[in-house]
Amino acid sequence: MGMSAQRSIYFRGGRLYYLDQRQLPLREIYRECENLNQGYRAIKGLGVRGAPLIGVFAAYCVYLAVKDFKSVKKDKFLKRFDKALDYLKSSRPTAVNLFWALERISRVVYAHSNLHINRLKRLILKEARSIHREDVGLCLKMARAGLKLIKSGDGILTHCNTGFLAASGNGTALAVIYEAHRAYRDIKVFADETRPLLQGARLTAWELVKRGIDVTLISDNMAASLMRQKKIDKIFVGADRIAANGDTANKIGTYGVAVLAGYHKIPFYVVAPSSTFDLSLSTGNDIPIEQRPSGEVKTVFNRVRIAPAKVKVYNPAFDVTPYRLISAIVTDGGIIFPPFRKNIKTTMGRI
Ligand code: MRU
Repeated sequence: MGMSAQRSIYFRGGRLYYLDQRQLPLREIYRECENLNQGYRAIKGLGVRGAPLIGVFAAYCVYLAVKDFKSVKKDKFLKRFDKALDYLKSSRPTAVNLFWALERISRVVYAHSNLHINRLKRLILKEARSIHREDVGLCLKMARAGLKLIKSGDGILTHCNTGFLAASGNGTALAVIYEAHRAYRDIKVFADETRPLLQGARLTAWELVKRGIDVTLISDNMAASLMRQKKIDKIFVGADRIAANGDTANKIGTYGVAVLAGYHKIPFYVVAPSSTFDLSLSTGNDIPIEQRPSGEVKTVFNRVRIAPAKVKVYNPAFDVTPYRLISAIVTDGGIIFPPFRKNIKTTMGRI
C-alpha cells in the first residue's frame, strides 16, 4: 500500500478516511467516516486512537456533523454544532487532546458567529485542517528535541503505541525513536505488548517492522527482567494528559514501567505535544480515567473467552505516573526537566 499505509487518517475531496486500527496487524483497511455517529464509534471503539490523533479526527468529525445542515437559522445551526461537540467529548474522557481540539473549533465558530452558515462550515473545516497540519509539525519538533536524549546503540523500551498510528506525523515517543534510528541505525527497541488491547503487539511492532527497525516484542511482565539484565538504557512513552505538576496519564501499565525504571535507575522519558498538557489540573489526581468493558479482559477480542464468564473485572484504560518518576518530558517546545511545575509553566507560556 506504500506511503498511504503510513497515514492514520486523511481528508480528501470533502471525505474523511481512517486506517481501521482494530484490524491491524492482520488487515490494512481504510474506511470512510461518513458522519458524526460513525466518527464517535470509531473513536470509542479504538478504530482511531492515540491522544493527538483523536483530537485531529474529532475536529474533522465536527465538520461532518454540520456540513449538510440545510436551514438558514443560525440558532439551529449553533445548536447542532454544540450538540456535536458534546457528543464527541463523551467518546473518551482521558486524552485531553480531544477537548483541546474541540475547544479550538468552538472558539473559532463563536468568534465569527455573525457570519453566514456556509462561511462557518468552511471555517470549521479550515480549523480542522490547521489542527491536522500543525500536529505533523509538532511531531517533528518533538522528534528533534528528543534525539538529544538518545545515544548510538541504546536499548529503548516503549509501552502502548505512540507512532504514526497515534498522531498525524510520526507520533510522539515513537517519533523520537524513528529520529534516533535515522541518526544512528543501531537503536534496539523493546515493545511491551500492552494488555489488554495489545497496542504494543498489534500496532507498535507493526509500525517498527514496517520501517525496518530492530524491535523485540515482549509481554508486559517481562520488562523487569530485561531491566535487570541491563538491556534497557532508556524508556520512552507517550501521554494522554499531563497535569501542571508533570503527573502524566498514559496507557495502563505505564506507571508500573516507571516504578521499575526508578528501581533500576533507568531514565524514564515522556514525549507529548503541547496539546496534551492540561494546566487547569494542578495534579494528576483530577485526571478522569476511562473505564472500559470487562469483555476486553475476559476475552481475546470478544472472541475467545479466557476467564470465567461471571468473574469481576477491573479495566481502566489509563494510569497516572507521578512526576517524581519522570526524568524529563519532551515537547514541541523542547525538553522539560524538573522542577516540572515551574518549567512546564515557562515552556508552555513560551509556545
Ligand atoms: O487507548 P489508546 O490506544 O488510545 O491509548 C493510547 C496511549 O495511551 C498512548 O500512549 C497515548 O495516547 C500517547 S500517543 C501519541
